[in-house]
Amino acid sequence: MGEVSRVGVVGSGLMGSGIAEVCARAGLDVLVNEVNQDASDAGRARIEKSLARGVRSGKLAEDDRDAALARLSFTTDLGDFADRDIVIEAVAEHEATKVDVFRTLDKVVRREDALFASNTSSIPIMKLGMATSRPAQVIGVHFFNPVPVLPLVELVPSLLTSDETRAAAEEFVTGPLGKQVIQSQDRAGFVVNALLIPYLLSAIRMMESGFASAEDIDQGIVLGLAHPMGPLRLTDLIGLDTTKAIAESMYAEFKEPLYSPPPLLLRMVDAGLLGKKSGRGFYDYEVAK
Ligand code: 3HC
Repeated sequence: MGEVSRVGVVGSGLMGSGIAEVCARAGLDVLVNEVNQDASDAGRARIEKSLARGVRSGKLAEDDRDAALARLSFTTDLGDFADRDIVIEAVAEHEATKVDVFRTLDKVVRREDALFASNTSSIPIMKLGMATSRPAQVIGVHFFNPVPVLPLVELVPSLLTSDETRAAAEEFVTGPLGKQVIQSQDRAGFVVNALLIPYLLSAIRMMESGFASAEDIDQGIVLGLAHPMGPLRLTDLIGLDTTKAIAESMYAEFKEPLYSPPPLLLRMVDAGLLGKKSGRGFYDYEVAK
């Protein structure tokens, strides 16, 4: 495909805002879609906070921060994505919502060879591709949180994704975005979550059964395995609702008990204890404004 300079990001939650930030810092023109003005404002605030962090740590010049912000615009109308070269969907992990987004994008995006990427963690790319008339141009491009920090992107072609789409997506994430890729087949969870989710669920089961405290489980992994954070703190970072949604997709695909979300996780999500983003999960946090 030719030049890719106009990026559309659908959703500006934890992942969407990180993806939009990384694209804007790479010099691309980024249009972000949200469902309403409040969600747009929250997305913009998240990006500003993360850029400020970059400036504070001396990794980002003030001029570059201002230039990145100037490249970002927001809309509540997906119709504004008509001129985008690539769209990256990063809405909540609900299949019906994502399918709806892809159906709309297919109608709206004019460029014939535009790329349609999804940041889904676990929903089969084929289901998203089949919601469009261009499944050959639909691919999974799965980033990791915090997106500005973690270098990995999983590339997930479906059975119908073309080689050109795969190559163009790889060029986009490794070139301007400076990420590193691994390839995965289109199976719920792809490579990383297929390994990560059973581990996180096991830690929740361990705590739920009274086997060990949250602090001791996390300390054990940080001090004993040199991970940057333990599994319960990591579940808080990912979001308990997202963890549950990924586990459910994987359980639906493989019917393996190890992917089945434990009752404590379900109850915490029901209670709105979603982790860092809601102020409370397995630990307490200051809620970001
Ligand atoms: N945005 C931008 N930069 C951030 C950031 C954010 N949200 N969070 C941290 N950073 C930067 C900091 O500015 C700092 O940069 P500096 O060294 O230049 O000052 C650097 O990252 C380290 O941050 P801190 O010193 O604040 O804290 P830590 O050293 O404890 O690192 C962490 C924080 C980067 C979150 C680290 O603990 C970590 O990597 N944890 C594991 C995260 C992980 O496993 N993510 C994958 C989740 S799975 C996923 O996303 C897939 C999905 O499908 C579920």
